[in-house]
This record gives sequence, structure tokens and C-alpha cells, in this order.
Amino acid sequence: MEIWFNPARELDTLLRATAAVTPGFTGPFNPEMRPAEPRYGDFQANGILACAKAAKANPRALATALVATLKASGKLDDALVAVDIAGPGFINFKLTPRFLDAWLARYADASAFQSGASAFYAGKKVIIDYPSANTAKQMHVGHLRPMVIGEAIARLLQFCGADLVRDNHIGDWGTNFGVLILAIKRSGYALDNAGEAALEDLERLYKEGSALTKSDPAALDAARAELIKLQTGDPENTALWQRIVAVSNAACQEMYDLLGVKPDVTLGESFYRDKVARIYAELTAAGLAEESEGALVVWHDGHPRFSRTSEPSQPFIVRKKDGGSNYASTDLATLLYRVEHFHADECIYVTDGRQQDHFQQLFLTAQKWFDATGRKLPALRHVWFGTILGEDGRAMKTKSGDSVRLKALLQKATDEAFAIVSTKNPDSPEAERWQIARTVGIGAVRYADLCQNRTLDYTFSLSKLLAFDGNTAPYLLYAVARIHSIFRKAGLAFGEGTQGASPLETDAEIALARKLLDFPVALEQACAELRPHFLCTCLFELAGAYSSFNNADKVLVDEPAVRARRLMLCARAATALSVGLRLLGIEPLERM
Ligand code: ARG
Repeated sequence: MEIWFNPARELDTLLRATAAVTPGFTGPFNPEMRPAEPRYGDFQANGILACAKAAKANPRALATALVATLKASGKLDDALVAVDIAGPGFINFKLTPRFLDAWLARYADASAFQSGASAFYAGKKVIIDYPSANTAKQMHVGHLRPMVIGEAIARLLQFCGADLVRDNHIGDWGTNFGVLILAIKRSGYALDNAGEAALEDLERLYKEGSALTKSDPAALDAARAELIKLQTGDPENTALWQRIVAVSNAACQEMYDLLGVKPDVTLGESFYRDKVARIYAELTAAGLAEESEGALVVWHDGHPRFSRTSEPSQPFIVRKKDGGSNYASTDLATLLYRVEHFHADECIYVTDGRQQDHFQQLFLTAQKWFDATGRKLPALRHVWFGTILGEDGRAMKTKSGDSVRLKALLQKATDEAFAIVSTKNPDSPEAERWQIARTVGIGAVRYADLCQNRTLDYTFSLSKLLAFDGNTAPYLLYAVARIHSIFRKAGLAFGEGTQGASPLETDAEIALARKLLDFPVALEQACAELRPHFLCTCLFELAGAYSSFNNADKVLVDEPAVRARRLMLCARAATALSVGLRLLGIEPLERM
């Protein structure tokens, strides 16, 4: 029998296949595999009950028949996985210590993990759209989540075999450029110096311009005229726009570097400006779009909010009254490009929760449009997230009510981490303390964002996220560093000294091994639901199991086989924690 990376998944597949050849099973069988209560085993298949009910059969008899076929098939070695039937017809699976030993031997390093996990997303072309910020704005705390969550999901999917394209769909085209260009021209501002100061100036100019266009209709007309000039390729406005985008991209790049975000392509909204006409034509020809008050709109009849009879009615406007394209038309063109150019099997969009309606309308429209044109729609997924709250429970702001700059926030986290690291290791060189502080500070901010279900809001508290106990990055990083120090103390390189390990023996060893087997389960669940917090929870529990093991069983004992076995468990725990942290975008440290 093969030593599966994720036994829960393989047992599920095996049970489905077995049911298909077992008398008494009609139609597809869903095993409903879940973790079992520890006294029953590792996994439990509960699906027999629903299946028996549907077939009006005795569940216990059905379970018995299924297990008999399974055993006769020879596909399950009972020295590795024990099976039994409990209660009315639950099937329990228990991984034997022999399985655990074999698993630990087989999945010994990051590349073994990766090859085990590669089946989860193998062969899928995935386009992930993040962080996709709007141009001409400084990055503030609101830009943290798309970067952190987008990057974690990208790494997860890539690790699990996806053929991934990170597409940074920046908002570099739209009405605001008319206002901004007008304000730049009126103020006589020379936009030739790049850098942060320029971006600050642009933000101020935009605010001035937008106040002006609100109070003065002539200015509004002038801004529209500037926009039309830009849209029709006027050289002066085009040059100005290019400089605005360049200034803005340079500032974003600094944040990408800090947070390890590396887009493969940056195809912003402007890239699609000549690709929207085709969308209008196709949607109209398919009878999906119609004129309404001068705009081109798509209704979704029968939908509670998007149909023409909904109150208030909320059409999907794909072309504005003034004939211009918008967010919707651009996204439709973007989707088509991702299909035709990248051959996407799946498109993932990472944005905040306020865009849920937009994406629902986009996905509904795309489905009808693709059906009408005989195209195959990729899987479309909106990965949305909640808001970061200040300690007052409201969207995080500075004391003066401005948005908190991302750079300042990350700097503050790093400074505080430096203070903590300096108290813990007053004697280590300052440069080393800063290096640790950067990992700990930024890692802590990242982890705090990822460890909760992304659709929830969360409160940003530097003291909590920097704590060395609890579900935090410092806690996990420290666990890894502590394991490395065990090897150092024994005079060994990491992972050495594990030859000749005897089979697992103590309760704490077995408990730690079982926790390690949760890693693939968490990985797969995080991928399936695109929710990295499943991985965080697993890492946190794994660090807890490691710590219990470490308290119960001394590692560096004299008995060579026991010492080797415990060193092996240490190495496996550190490997799983390190792989997990890297997937979350946090580079583990060997010393802290
Ligand atoms: N630029 C948008 C914003 O800042 C996010 C774009 C997300 N991607 C997309 N294809 N709509 O809100």
C-alpha cells in the first residue's frame, strides 16, 4: 500500500470507488470523511447513514458490505490502516504507528511535501488577480489585506501544483484621471520628480481637483474634456498619465518588496481600453445587454437584487451614459483575455467584501455570455475579506482621521519587534537584531491578517500580534528557532542525527506525529476554500503538540535509537512549520 500524503483524501477516493463495486450501493456515494474523535481513530466516514436512508437499507449492513469489499480489494493494508464499524454504521479509520513511522520517513523534507501536495491543484492554469491597487494613491492600511491574502493564496496554490499567473490588475484608467490631469495643469505642478513626495502631491492635487469639480460645473466640464483627450490619445495628456502611473508604481513597488509580492504580469485597466468595444458588441448580439437611460446595462431577471423589477434596481452597467467604459466592461474584457491569452481554468479575484455585488454580477453575466457564445467558463472565485479595525472597533484611522500609511504601519511593527528582540537578546549584534525584527515585525502583521477567517473583520493590535505566546507569528517563529537550537546544542546540522531512529513509542511522540498528519489536510482545505487560516490553525496546533512533546520527552538522551527518533520528530516539526510559514509569506529564522 502506498503511504499517502493526505490519507483522509485518499480514503475518501478509495471509499467512493469501492462503493461503486459494492452490492447495495446505488448511485454515487459521498463518504463524508471527517476527523474522528481520537478514541475512535483518525478519520470517520459518516456518509453511510445518508446513503442507507436514501436506499431504505440497513446502514450497518451497508457499512459491513463496503468494508468487506474494501478488505477483499487488497487496497488497504490493515497493518497500516485499521478499519472498523461503530454504532449504526460509522466507518472508523485508524492510522497505525507503523503508518505514522512510514509517513515520517517518506515526507521528510519540503520537496517531499510539495510532491505530495502537488496533486491538489495539478494541471490547473490559475490566474490570481491581486493586489490590484488603484493608481495615484499612497498605499494605506487598506492595501495590506489584498497583498497578504493574495500572496498566501498564490503560494499555497503554486505549492499544490497550480500553474499560476499573478496578475496585478492595477486601476490605472478611469474618470479620476480627468480630474487629476486638470488639477495638475491648473496648479502648474511639474511632475518630473518621482518618489513618495510626488505621490503625496498627487493625492493633494486630486483632492483639490475633485472639490473644484464638485463646486464648479465649468471645472467639471474641463475635467471631462481632459479625460476625453486622454482617452483619444492626446500626446500631452498621455505623457502626463504615464508619469502619474510611473510615480505610483514606484511607490507600490517599495511595498511589494517589503511584503514579498512579485506579480508575474501587471495588466492594469488601461491595458483593456481597446478591448471593451468587443464586449459591448458580443453582449448586445447575445441579447444580454440593452440600452437604459443612455447606458448599456445587463439585467439578471429572477435575481433578488439585479433584476429590472428589484427595488432598488441595480443593473450591471457595462458602458456609461457618456459612452465610456467602466469597471464592469473592463472586467469582462479582462476575463476574456485571461481565457483567450492565458487559457485560464480558474480566475481568482482578491478584493475587499464591498465588491461582492460587482463580482456576483460579473460572474452571472460571464456565465450567460459564455453560454451564448459557446465558450467554456473558467471557475470564477471572489476571495473577499473584511475590514481591519482600530482598537476602537472602527475602520482603522490615524488620530487626525486619515488612513494609516502602510509603510508607517510596517515600520512601527518592525520597531516594536526590535525593542522586544533587544530585551530578549541584548548581547547579539544590532544588525542581527534588526534583521530578526524585520521578519518578526512584518511576519506578525501578516500572520495576524491570515490567521482569522478572511471574511471577518479583525482588530489590529500590535501588542497582541507581537506576543510570543498565543496564535502569533512570533510564537511559531520561536518554535522553529528553538528546534534549530536543539540541533546546534547537539553539535549537529539541522536534520542530522536521525539515522537509526526506532519506531514511535511514547504518547507524546505519537500525538506529535498525528498532528503532523494534519498538515496535508489543512493545506488541502486552505486550497479548496482559498482560506489560509486553516493552515494557520494547523501550524499553531502543531507548535503546541511539539511543545508538549518537548516537555514530556527529553530529546538529547543517551540511548542512540531513541535520541535519533526524537531528533527526527524535531526535524519533521520544524520542516512542517517552516514550509507552512513560507507559504504564508513568512521566512523562518534559525535563531531568534
Ligand atoms: N482596483 C480595484 C480596487 O482597488 C481592485 C481590482 C480587482 N480586480 C478586478 N479584476 N476587478 O478596488
